[in-house]
Amino acid sequence: MNKALVISASGKGGTGKTTIIALLLKCILDSNSNKDILVVDADPAANLPDVLGVSINKTVGEVANELKKRIEKGTIPLGVSKRDLLEGWVYSTIVELDDFDMLVMGRTEGEGCYCYVNNVLTKILDTIISNYDLVLMDMEAGLEHLSRRTDKDVDKMIIVTDMSLMGFKTAKRIKELIKEVHIKIKSVYLVGNRFPPKFRRKLEEWASKIGVEFGALIPYDPLVEEFNILGKSLLELPSDSPALKAAYGLAEKLSVLK
Ligand SMILES: Nc1ncnc2c1ncn2[C@@H]1O[C@H](COP(=O)(O)OP(=O)(O)O)[C@@H](O)[C@H]1O
Ligand SMILES: [Mg+2]
Repeated sequence: MNKALVISASGKGGTGKTTIIALLLKCILDSNSNKDILVVDADPAANLPDVLGVSINKTVGEVANELKKRIEKGTIPLGVSKRDLLEGWVYSTIVELDDFDMLVMGRTEGEGCYCYVNNVLTKILDTIISNYDLVLMDMEAGLEHLSRRTDKDVDKMIIVTDMSLMGFKTAKRIKELIKEVHIKIKSVYLVGNRFPPKFRRKLEEWASKIGVEFGALIPYDPLVEEFNILGKSLLELPSDSPALKAAYGLAEKLSVLK
């Protein structure tokens, strides 16, 4: 099976995970790297589609819940395997665009234990991921995704922090959890977002204190805010946007450009 390079962004809520995934995608698309790219919104409060100007139909969580309901009601047609049914439905949620595909997880953990459905779902997602060269994952805030092992296939993790001590502490905790839950991630990078450039040294210090690589310092960029308010896709940012320029440095470090 083809092994996709999987990159994820985690960190405290509101630090800029979604923004950074969008900026990275833009850098990669602008470099004409010709990669098959899948963007995954793994935050139940999905807003990556809005930030990228993508309209989505159904989420993976919705189709998984539909299967759970049908199992409960006993309305699965005879002779149809649940796995095949779910697989078809999950594939149908993938939005295919010219330059990349997108998958939105939504809420996958419904009420009750449906270990069967959840296990099958994991296998289906693994297969989907293996069809791409590069997978960018926008994770939810907090740390639960680490213990649920949503990140089990991540090769490179970006931990995003703002300039608050709380952001730093969350970043530190994420790094510790990666070790505790035995997730094998090849490299972990700390990215300071909306971070004043004069505190670059501080950010580098934080990275070495946590024991991760320094990823990038992304400055405050009024255009990023403006695009958000106006509902404009970050893929349309002009090339002189300071946040985008800084994201190029990160993309280079992650070796995802041409
Ligand atoms: N570098 C930046 N400059 C200006 N605004 C930013 C920057 N990064 C993020 N924002 C804004 O901050 C808010 C939170 O960012 P977001 O990426 O949604 O965070 P998260 O995904 O971590 O919750 C959004 O309104 C976004 O537009
Ligand atoms: Mg987000």
